[in-house]
Amino acid sequence: MPSHLIIAIDGPAASGKSSVARVLARRLGYVYVNTGAMYRAVTWHVLASGVDPADQSAVLSLLASTTIECDIAGHESAILINGVDPTPNLVSEAVNGAVSTVATISQVRSQLVALQRAYGEKSNSVMEGRDIGSAVFPETPYKFYIDASVEVRAQRRAKQGLQDSITQRDKLDSTRRTSPLVIAEDAHVIDSSHLTVDGVVGEIIGRLKIKGLLPTEF
Ligand code: CDP
Repeated sequence: MPSHLIIAIDGPAASGKSSVARVLARRLGYVYVNTGAMYRAVTWHVLASGVDPADQSAVLSLLASTTIECDIAGHESAILINGVDPTPNLVSEAVNGAVSTVATISQVRSQLVALQRAYGEKSNSVMEGRDIGSAVFPETPYKFYIDASVEVRAQRRAKQGLQDSITQRDKLDSTRRTSPLVIAEDAHVIDSSHLTVDGVVGEIIGRLKIKGLLPTEF
């Protein structure tokens, strides 16, 4: 069991998890942890180093000589790769196209999952990703799965002006061998297709009241 509370938010690409998790964390005074950013950061480093993301042994030997530091800055997770902040590069078309391939490598996952679990020892957190409720913190009683129709998700990404083949990522994420995207048995599922971010946050807060984490007057 982690020493702090973890609220797990999982779901497919562009389902609105990040916006929801950030707003929820702010309202609760928890740290917002974006685990997708960790897979994206590693992918950026792989590409910037000229390594083929599909070449698992080349990716792993690069990682063996890479320092990955995860910390908290301004109530949010922050990552440094060999001392460099990769944030400006994380949503490039190249990273979008390669991240799910890198995320299929089980040794990459175990390294990043260890860093994710370390947040559970540092602070109460709202952690979002693909496998937080199913594999990273399966013992947390606070699990949410945010979905939306594929059309709505594609529209959301296009509105952000980003090139992103979300259906291809969903397929890779759902079919990989190690901790694929699944709905944890005890997760509360929210379809955000016709909800605003505040609407989804409101539903989560309502559920956290029912579960006794928050007082009814919150
Ligand atoms: O923002 P979006 O939902 O599109 O993606 P993200 O959360 O930034 O995650 C990018 C990619 O990282 C996903 O498509 C997965 O391949 C991988 N990922 C993962 O495998 N496990 C996680 N816990 C988080 C992300």
